[in-house]
Amino acid sequence: MGSIRPPSRVPAIRTTMFPKDTNPNGSIFGGFILSLVDQAAAVEAIRQSPGSFVTVAMDRVVFDKPVCVGDIVSIWAETTRIGRTSIDIHTKVLARPRDGGDDVLVTQADVRMVKIDANRKPTPIHPE
Ligand SMILES: CC(C)(COP(=O)(O)OP(=O)(O)OC[C@H]1O[C@@H](n2cnc3c(N)ncnc32)[C@H](O)[C@@H]1OP(=O)(O)O)[C@@H](O)C(=O)NCCC(=O)NCCS
Repeated sequence: MGSIRPPSRVPAIRTTMFPKDTNPNGSIFGGFILSLVDQAAAVEAIRQSPGSFVTVAMDRVVFDKPVCVGDIVSIWAETTRIGRTSIDIHTKVLARPRDGGDDVLVTQADVRMVKIDANRKPTPIHPE
């Protein structure tokens, strides 16, 4: 519906993984990865259209590989569709061991964010 800005050439988020965010198996808790995905989607939504956004849906979340303490994690976020009040964003999470190596795709998810006004009601992405 709306015009989409070209994809960002940098990740929406890049950060390192700490022991406090592990699960009982010692790898990084999936819920923590999802919170980073959610934040990265918000960064991308605001890049497309400055303002306030809330997450209305997450789809096709796939945890392909575990993430380890010390990994450097990058979350890439690309807008795939802009509707009247919502934006669809595809996210990819890549992890790299701190002692070197390549980025490896560990998680993917589709996120829908809705732009809201001061009353928390949906508001147009591209006002007419
Ligand atoms: C997001 C929210 C404002 C939408 O309110 P609503 O009254 O359902 O809004 P509408 O029916 O007008 O839909 C608004 C947009 O959201 C989309 N949408 C609404 N419900 C959806 C759902 N279940 N799945 C996917 N998209 C949905 C609609 O398609 C519409 O997109 P469009 O305008 O681009 O076509 C409301 O559901 C809300 O506040 N949810 C809580 C958000 C939140 O707190 N998130 C943080 C995580 S807890």
